[in-house]
Amino acid sequence: MKVLVTGANGFTGQHLVKTLVGKGFEVIATSRNASKLPSYDNLTYYNCELTDVRNVENLFDLTRPGAVIHTAAMSKPDECAANPDLCTANNITATQHLLDAATKVGANHFVYLSTDFIFGENGPHAEDDIPSPLNLYGASKLEAEALVNAASIKTTIVRPVFMYGPVWENLRPSFIQWVAGKLNNGEPIKVVTDQARTPTYIGDLCWGIQKIIQDQVPGTFHLAGKDIVSPYDMAVAVAKHLNLPLGLIEPVTASTFPEPVKRAQRSGLKIDKAVHELGYAPHAFADALQKCFA
Ligand SMILES: NC(=O)c1ccc[n+]([C@@H]2O[C@H](COP(=O)([O-])OP(=O)(O)OC[C@H]3O[C@@H](n4cnc5c(N)ncnc54)[C@H](OP(=O)(O)O)[C@@H]3O)[C@@H](O)[C@H]2O)c1
Repeated sequence: MKVLVTGANGFTGQHLVKTLVGKGFEVIATSRNASKLPSYDNLTYYNCELTDVRNVENLFDLTRPGAVIHTAAMSKPDECAANPDLCTANNITATQHLLDAATKVGANHFVYLSTDFIFGENGPHAEDDIPSPLNLYGASKLEAEALVNAASIKTTIVRPVFMYGPVWENLRPSFIQWVAGKLNNGEPIKVVTDQARTPTYIGDLCWGIQKIIQDQVPGTFHLAGKDIVSPYDMAVAVAKHLNLPLGLIEPVTASTFPEPVKRAQRSGLKIDKAVHELGYAPHAFADALQKCFA
């Protein structure tokens, strides 16, 4: 199957491309700038600005994918709040361009990467809980979900949470590498105790998306971790795993960091639907850490 992956230079995109290429899919990868991916026989890379409709149409005319996995986004809430028009263009308009082009070339399946930020407080949330985004990023992703649901081709919405995983050259670090880097340098860090999340190990997300593509499963799925943890819990687990000094981690409340956008205190997603319908079996946080730092 020929699969187009958008946002292929990003954290999720690079992991996903690596997974799909390894499983023998013919992968067309695209991102805004020059490729940051290694070369593989079954991988072709095109740079494409997704807010430019002509660019998107040309890419689809040229490549005619059978399935599309749309990970590209303006993915930082603070950046969205500071640039509302760009947020709309990147997160909403670009999604419509991709849906139109996929429909036009007769693609079978469109998978959209959304987020737990479409919900408000009182997580963890199930797929059919009522959305209530607390910031523009969450609202833009929710609006894009509505476009995906209105499309006339088969679609799937996948919602991960606070992703982490191994990194390599040219791949942006996740939270766990930030913690490890600071502690390795002997630098003290302040980490929040009063936020609850169900972080997604990227390997589990890639497994779930591959399963969804392979079996062409429509609907909405939460692909998160099974543990409810705070960023502080995560930092402590990283320090213990790598034998780094725990004393450098100072527990603080979220009020220590006045942030430009509102974030949920108790977020996170329930994964029962993915467990029952996809056979999703995510790693425990401690087990995933072993893979991240192997
Ligand atoms: N990271 C998380 O913890 C998390 C949690 C929940 C949901 N998500 C969702 O998961 C998806 C992937 O997140 P991520 O953290 O892996 O993203 P990321 O690392 O920020 O990467 C996003 C990629 O999208 C590309 N992109 C953005 N706008 C584009 C445009 N207009 N045209 C072409 N390419 C464009 C960027 O290209 P350039 O590098 O060239 O700018 C970048 O490579 C996003 O949809 C995000 O909303 C992420």
